[in-house]
Amino acid sequence: MAERRSAEWYAGTDRNAYIHRAWMRRGLPHDAFDGRPHIAIANSASDLTPCNSHLNEVMESVKAGIYEAGGIPLNLPVVSLGETQVRPTAMLWRNMAAMATEEMLRANPIDGVVLLGGCDKTIPSLLMAAASVDLPAIVVPGGPMKTGTFRGQALGCGTDVWRLSEEVRAGTLSEEEFLTSESSMIASKGHCNTMGTASTMALVAEALGTVIPGLAGTPAVDSRLLESSHETGRLIVDLVERDRRPSGFLTKGSFQNAIVALAAIGGSTNAVVHLLAIAGRLGIDVTLDDFDAIGSGVPLLVNLQPAGRFLMDDFQRAGGLLAVLREVKDLLDPTALTVTGRPLVDHLDDARIWDHEVISAREKPLIPDAGIAVLRGNLAPGGAIIKPAAASPHLLRHRGRAVVFDSIEHMHARIDDPDLDVDESSVLVLRGCGPKGYPGMPEVANMPLPKKLLEKGVRDIVRICDGRMSGTAYGTVVLHVTPEAAAGGTLALVQDGDWIVLDVAQRLLTLDVPRGELNQRRPNRATLDGYATPRRGWERLYVDHVLGADTGADLDFLVGSSGDKVSRESH
Ligand code: FES
Repeated sequence: MAERRSAEWYAGTDRNAYIHRAWMRRGLPHDAFDGRPHIAIANSASDLTPCNSHLNEVMESVKAGIYEAGGIPLNLPVVSLGETQVRPTAMLWRNMAAMATEEMLRANPIDGVVLLGGCDKTIPSLLMAAASVDLPAIVVPGGPMKTGTFRGQALGCGTDVWRLSEEVRAGTLSEEEFLTSESSMIASKGHCNTMGTASTMALVAEALGTVIPGLAGTPAVDSRLLESSHETGRLIVDLVERDRRPSGFLTKGSFQNAIVALAAIGGSTNAVVHLLAIAGRLGIDVTLDDFDAIGSGVPLLVNLQPAGRFLMDDFQRAGGLLAVLREVKDLLDPTALTVTGRPLVDHLDDARIWDHEVISAREKPLIPDAGIAVLRGNLAPGGAIIKPAAASPHLLRHRGRAVVFDSIEHMHARIDDPDLDVDESSVLVLRGCGPKGYPGMPEVANMPLPKKLLEKGVRDIVRICDGRMSGTAYGTVVLHVTPEAAAGGTLALVQDGDWIVLDVAQRLLTLDVPRGELNQRRPNRATLDGYATPRRGWERLYVDHVLGADTGADLDFLVGSSGDKVSRESH
């Protein structure tokens, strides 16, 4: 057996080894430093990340499994991001969380890591970190919450907040009733119960091979979560013994499986930037176009909010991810491995669909060609995405006049103005919301509809933005437009009244303005002057180094891996 990484700290009789051991003893077993694997539990539990607040309990089950298998478990609290709490947007901090976790994994005497995440950015940041430090790693997703009810109806958190608040704006629900629903929205520990970003990233992490198959999607209140956490603790010790690292088993085929899963479950568009960033850390060549090429022909099999009807506890009851993947087994890479050492496809044989209203059979898909479409054209030469399954079919081919907002504040100030020149054929354009422009690429692309359209009964129009969209939102929304306006994209040149053409079948997004005129407008793109460059701190580092959404919005110097080596002794 090769010498453990932790032995670089603990083995020997010199003063440094003495110090490393002595300060860590504090009740550890007497043989803790005699070659037993030391396993960090990268724990994103935090009272300010309410979706992850139960992860300390999960951590105890992981710990028990690690001890049982002969390892030494070590709780490592990591930067945690509460999607609903942190300002200006959790995405601004994803790369910071990933960098901090990566550095702490590398800096400490550990041989492997279990990653505890849940809320939207936590699993992506943990996986980015694990990919870059390349130590054996397994994810435990914290699981969705129990479904709450309001006036006898199940509430999809996130999705129903948008729906109920739009009803208030449309005058069909009183503000008092809206506020009464607040205490029913979050019924238990766990993350959002729709097919939002948290559910999506948990399931996609499993399809990627980084979660024990069958675990992702297990509700936070379900005792099977703790059982699988215990099993994960045992398995990580085995992974360390076998030296099975992310770089050793994650391949392009793993990402193929993740993209197929993303399409079949109707997952969040946010998974695109997160998977691109994780692949970038691993040095695996995954591009935006892969999402279209691999995913767009995959059938949508899962009828979950925001686009559909059911919620995550229904999904798990109906068979969960493995039942979905069994239906599309022929589209998966049969060689792509999981943390178990076996291919993902080997884990599908016993899976069954128990409720065909929630999970459809392959022969009866909800939509035959789901997935994410990648659009290009002079308005998005670097690409933009749309989720056709969440869009209105009659708007997928559309030509309309632009109504332009230079910032979120500008949009809020104008959107309900009775004099706003907008109708149901208009195209709302919101810019200044990309990684650099906001900064942090917030989830604002699904901008609210103008009140006067809501009052007419209009529920969807085409919207275009260089930002992201909440995984719990829906509508005909073109997002992640690249290059973003703040990076000099054509989006910065659009003016009120310009014609915009969207043709999803042709994968086109065009600003119908002659090139000569666009060139004349370019020096006068006054809107860009409004983007203030942050003076110091993380925001400064972020704006100076963040890449476009088309490659995952990572920082340029964080792409790739540094491995687990620390070249110098501790002093
Ligand atoms: Fe945490 Fe939705 S706010 S998952």
